[in-house]
Amino acid sequence: MPSIPFIDLQSQRARISGEIDAAIARVLDHGQFILGPEVTEFEQALKAFENAKAVVACANGTDAIVLSLKALGIGSGDAVFCPSYTYTATAEAIVLVGATPVFVDIVPETYGMCSRSLTVAIKDVLKGDLKPKAVIAVDLFGHPADYEALSAVSDSYDLSLISDNAQSIGSRINGKSTAEYADIATTSFFPAKPLGCYGDGGAILLKDDGLVAKLRSLAFHGRGAEAFDHDKIGCNSRLDTVQAAVLLEKLKIFKDEITERNHVADRYAQQLSGVIKAVPYVKDGCTSTWAQYAIEVDDRDAFLAYMRGQNLPVAAYYPRPVHEQTAYTDFPVVSSGLQETNRVKLFAAALPMHAYLSQTDQDIICAAVRGFYQA
Ligand SMILES: Cc1ncc(COP(=O)(O)O)c(C=O)c1O
Repeated sequence: MPSIPFIDLQSQRARISGEIDAAIARVLDHGQFILGPEVTEFEQALKAFENAKAVVACANGTDAIVLSLKALGIGSGDAVFCPSYTYTATAEAIVLVGATPVFVDIVPETYGMCSRSLTVAIKDVLKGDLKPKAVIAVDLFGHPADYEALSAVSDSYDLSLISDNAQSIGSRINGKSTAEYADIATTSFFPAKPLGCYGDGGAILLKDDGLVAKLRSLAFHGRGAEAFDHDKIGCNSRLDTVQAAVLLEKLKIFKDEITERNHVADRYAQQLSGVIKAVPYVKDGCTSTWAQYAIEVDDRDAFLAYMRGQNLPVAAYYPRPVHEQTAYTDFPVVSSGLQETNRVKLFAAALPMHAYLSQTDQDIICAAVRGFYQA
């Protein structure tokens, strides 16, 4: 086991174990394990934190995308644009509703969706039989995508814009959350995410509340207004009350944790600039939640082996973009190509990143990175 954790949930637990244990005990006492009061309380707290118009909690971040697409009426014959350089779930959700993912390239600075590539992909689709319906931008590694550019393109083609915020809830663009830019933002509370629970969880954040009733119905088997009637095909996707109780406590320290993550990122930047090719880029006015601290290393395999040899945890990201994965090779790729995606997949390597990474541990990690470059 590496002595420095890649993501340190135990230090966070040590900080708020009393509060979390008490919150879970309250749920065990009242016994409303499904849709208990903590779920609504958490939805309200997250809504305020992200300045969203409404929040609908659900079972995980993948369902959050599926439910959003269903609520928008997207299905067979529809094209949804997404990056290939993302976790598989972004594209998987599109396929699960019967629509077709169209893979778009990213920009080299933030690894967010490229608006020029998106425009080309939309024009490609307009030449064929699919109907362009929505764009899913991913805020990769915690940095928000360029929503000003992406919404200009989406608006001009009348497409819905979804922010897959699974890695970046709490990130900001000029002080605003991505839920204030995109029509819908979806997120995941998978334990390793910046805001994680103690199991699976997810949420949909809305810029306007017109879809709330439909989303709640879809997440509850499509139940209708009349008792015993289900007026749409839905699914079972609810945030467990216990997880909502955990998240309520974690949300109270989340702002502070984001600040700490940014201190860690600043320290990495100070110690590694001039050593590595470039330290991760943060766009002016943006705040990242640093779900990953990913650097680009020419000889990544040797780097990963060297760091692991020093008992330091590191990870390659994403060596196999979605368009190259077996189940996804038949889906369309933008005609101008995925140059950046195919470049970054070879070089991106993530270093340990969490709010509790001490100066001492970071010094050890940075010394090892320097050691690799000097070897
Ligand atoms: C970008 C992205 N989208 C979607 C998801 C799916 O979230 P979940 O695992 O909660 O379904 C993840 C999480 O792994 C993710 O990183």
